[in-house]
Amino acid sequence: MIVDQSLIEQAAQDIVNSKKSIAFTGSGISEESGIPTFRGGQGLWEKYDPMEYAHIQSFIKNPEKVWEMLAEMAEIISKAKPNPAHIALAELENMGLLEAVITQNVDGLHQMAGNKHVVEFHGSNQWLVCIKCGFRTEIKNYSPNDFPPKCERCLSILKPDVVFFGEAIPYNAQVKSMYLAKVSDLVLVIGTSAVVYPAAQIPITAKEYGAKIIEINKEKTSLSDGIASYSIEGPAGEVMPHIVEAVRRLIS
Ligand code: APR
Repeated sequence: MIVDQSLIEQAAQDIVNSKKSIAFTGSGISEESGIPTFRGGQGLWEKYDPMEYAHIQSFIKNPEKVWEMLAEMAEIISKAKPNPAHIALAELENMGLLEAVITQNVDGLHQMAGNKHVVEFHGSNQWLVCIKCGFRTEIKNYSPNDFPPKCERCLSILKPDVVFFGEAIPYNAQVKSMYLAKVSDLVLVIGTSAVVYPAAQIPITAKEYGAKIIEINKEKTSLSDGIASYSIEGPAGEVMPHIVEAVRRLIS
């Protein structure tokens, strides 16, 4: 896929000119790390019906069945490493040109790449919680043979500390994200179909408060016409390093 170099240069200039830029990411940024996206061709929801495998009521009714999908995801995430797109965002933060990453992803790859200020809007797969007694532990304390993992206190089946359909967004993540959306003047929207709310409201709120929205995605989304100032079409793992290289040229 040929990436539009003039838009790369434009994005670099916008980043350098911004006073408070943030990134808002979805599963597409982790696709090149081997983690399946949810929608589209090979999407997870093509294989597993999200209402049967990713709704909190389904988990309560049949946790063993939901753990069939959760175990597959946990295995993939445990082997995944940050790709050049994650690393590019960590470099921007290190250069003082990125305030925070708000991510819908639960894979922890932004933190692994080096970003310090990450808001996990849909929680984290690194932690397991007991919805009966509130016990919390890290998934690394369990091996795939222990799945579905049991609570050490009350023996109920534990749930990854991620937001299932039908569950509320963690309060702190909600508050921090809305604050960042309102005070940022530039949002890099990377690898999201922007169809799931309230997460998808973040770039819309940022735009309402005057931010410039730049979309990086393999294809057009509902943000492309109207919310995004411009969209750079291409794989994030290719586009983002080009943008950081162009930023380095501008500030050197
Ligand atoms: N580079 C850039 N964009 C990509 C890449 C890539 N390598 N691969 C895929 N994409 C884009 C797709 O074109 C699509 O727009 O990433 C997006 C992935 O969309 P979804 O699969 O819907 O993932 P996401 O937007 O993160 O879903 C949001 O839905 O099911 C819930 O909780 C789940 O957090 C998830 C939320």
